[in-house]
Amino acid sequence: MRKTKIVKAAKGPAKIKLRAPWEIDLLRKANAVVAEVLQTLKEVIAPGVSAWDLNKIAEEIARKRGALPAFKGYRGYPFSLCVSVNEEVVHGLPLKEKVLKEGDIVSLDFGAIYEGYVGDAAITVAVGQISEEAKRLMKVTEEALYKAIDKARVGNRVQDISAVIQQHAERHGYNVVRDFVGHGVGQSLHEPPEVPNFGRRGKGPPLMAGMVLAIEPMVVTGSHEVEILPDGWTAVTKDRGLAAHFEHSIVITAKGPEILSKL
Ligand code: MF3
Ligand code: CO
Repeated sequence: MRKTKIVKAAKGPAKIKLRAPWEIDLLRKANAVVAEVLQTLKEVIAPGVSAWDLNKIAEEIARKRGALPAFKGYRGYPFSLCVSVNEEVVHGLPLKEKVLKEGDIVSLDFGAIYEGYVGDAAITVAVGQISEEAKRLMKVTEEALYKAIDKARVGNRVQDISAVIQQHAERHGYNVVRDFVGHGVGQSLHEPPEVPNFGRRGKGPPLMAGMVLAIEPMVVTGSHEVEILPDGWTAVTKDRGLAAHFEHSIVITAKGPEILSKL
């Protein structure tokens, strides 16, 4: 999600919901639809496939499973799937003319609503053979996600998640995007708290059992700066460096994190 402006802080910190087991069950179902969509799209991805086709497949699977696409109409977003290629970071539009080619890396982001509960996840996948640099970027970003999930434990704070993402990316010579953040997720796509991909260990709201978070590192090979294309949605790196994005929805339990959107 887009980082919110500071003005909101004047109202004080919004309350983070703790979800009951029956709610977690519904969130698990919503995320199972998301995972099925991403897994299917990953298998379909090949040179010559258009982003439009991917959006259609995603919608078909959601409908078949009794779920609604969570992004369609959200703040006016006109599609169900985000397809972001190479220097596109997030919120790429699945247009007919966006045709994948050998060597691209493509980030797929999908959300589903099942009985009022929202699932949200993203993966970055290779189109055919890709460069060693692109492979390494994808690997580091996915590693950052799993390191972050491992910090989602009672006794830690939100920025323990943020800090490990930043640390892992920067240790490999990459940067994290700052204008977009992870987020709470539940009955809305975006709920408190914000989960930045950079921060300081020990800072931010305390993590508690029942919190559901969408953790989503966005890592770039060049500068962290992004700009929005004239379409009003697509976020690209200003220097046109490569970007990767991996996201899971997780719930914090007394026993540790559980990934709801596992593929
Ligand atoms: N996973 C993305 C996010 O949390 C997807 C939002 S796309 C939108 O920001 F169109 F719904 F905004
Ligand atoms: Co998200």
